[in-house]
Amino acid sequence: MATEKITREQWAVSDGFIAKIKEDNANFAVKNGRTRLAHTETYGCQQNVNDTERIRGMLAKAGFEFTDKAEEADLVIYNTCAVRENAEQRVFGRLGILKHIKENAKPDMLVAVCGCMVQQEHIAEKIRKVHDHVDLIFGTHALWRMPELLYKAMNENGVVVDITRSDGSIAEDVPILRDKDEKAWVSIMYGCNNFCTYCIVPYVRGRERSRTPEDILSEVKCLVKSGTTEISLLGQNVNSYGKDLGLDIDFADLLRMINDIDGVKRIRFMTSHPKDLSDKLIYTIRDCDKVCKQLHLPVQAGSNRILKEMNRHYTKEQYLEKIDKIKKEIPGITLTTDIIVGFPTETTEDFKETLDIIRYVRYDSIFSFIYSRREGTPAAKLDFVLTDEEIHRNFNELLEVQNQICLEKNLEYKDRIETILVDGSSKTNKSLMSGRTDGGKIVNFKGSPDLCGKYVQVKITNPKQWSLEGELI
Ligand code: SAH
Ligand code: SF4
Ligand code: F3S
Repeated sequence: MATEKITREQWAVSDGFIAKIKEDNANFAVKNGRTRLAHTETYGCQQNVNDTERIRGMLAKAGFEFTDKAEEADLVIYNTCAVRENAEQRVFGRLGILKHIKENAKPDMLVAVCGCMVQQEHIAEKIRKVHDHVDLIFGTHALWRMPELLYKAMNENGVVVDITRSDGSIAEDVPILRDKDEKAWVSIMYGCNNFCTYCIVPYVRGRERSRTPEDILSEVKCLVKSGTTEISLLGQNVNSYGKDLGLDIDFADLLRMINDIDGVKRIRFMTSHPKDLSDKLIYTIRDCDKVCKQLHLPVQAGSNRILKEMNRHYTKEQYLEKIDKIKKEIPGITLTTDIIVGFPTETTEDFKETLDIIRYVRYDSIFSFIYSRREGTPAAKLDFVLTDEEIHRNFNELLEVQNQICLEKNLEYKDRIETILVDGSSKTNKSLMSGRTDGGKIVNFKGSPDLCGKYVQVKITNPKQWSLEGELI
């Protein structure tokens, strides 16, 4: 299916509902002497973070203010993730708590659940049955229709549900309220065509569709005007950007175009699929001064048999060949990866091959997950060889090996001078400021809060396992 944009007329309908909600909210404020408050919570990946920014953009336009406390809110929206079972369990847990609050303290509270989790019919059904205090359920495809759905939910009894699919479409004009000024997420494509056998994403996000270069460039230029200097490009597989557009532009070309925009200082992107990582892209990362020397290249597993079962379309040897090439062309590049431990049929011998990869590549950090069975995916039909206990043992061994590597890699930074984009106070020690290096490493240092959003030079004095500590110079 060719990608279509949501037309201006279609968006105008949504915008009309934003105006209606705004009027309703204004009446509410007059009657109650306060503005209606919304609370949003986001689960899952950066794509979801970016979607929530759009949800907040629409809500702000409709006259809502925001609160961090669900119990104070008139409207609570959970933007959910389906990638692993624990993400879903957390949402069900939160819904249970909200039920209590709604019944006992806030009977008028509106509760909405949206995103990947509810795009699955069996989950939407379960919420309807078990959580009758939920007023609105909408999937990833219905994001731009949220104003109409919310208006209905505000004015009708019973739950409003929209989990229809519209695989080929992109909505461009949805307003956006971003969390940060200096850094911004920019989605360049939606959906995924890869169908890795463990993964639910293609089922809940639909087929791959790219935004046009014009739309992306104009968003970036707009961001730069409002003070953003770091752009992170998002897609489930950015390396196949543009394939559906029928233009002669691939991801590497897009990177170059963004690299040419005045005012952009740093460009990051995720995620790259190893099968589609081209030499051209490696050279582009190497040659574009603003493209950060950092690559997240999920390997998932080290055994060729498991990679095949996962439908990853590369072998361990092909993956490592790419890694070698990247390291040769871009010395010092920060490398990170995703690993799944305990995929069905995986043996401990298979797992050892994952360890081999970890030891060979020496990633700066890894994101490791215990396999979670996802209903409707091909891997859900496969059997396990290992017990839960064995899988957990392997998982812990992986962490141990990687922790040591993390520390050793960070120790290499001792006495180096790094340029940091300061993004706030440190999460672990509020008296320190924090930011990231070009390679994406977290650096904490003593400094004043007005450095936020600025690039500063920091000498690394104390490298630790999870972060670097340094002194402003
Ligand atoms: N598109 C990206 C990220 C997808 S989700 C990519 O292809 O890499 C992020 C990570 O979650 C995946 O890389 C994978 O490691 C993990 N993941 C996906 N499905 C999973 C499952 N069923 N169980 C455990 N981990 C999973
Ligand atoms: Fe899931 Fe694979 Fe697509 Fe990543 S590439 S989103 S792991 S199906
Ligand atoms: Fe989760 Fe959906 Fe992202 S399933 S990982 S929030 S695309």
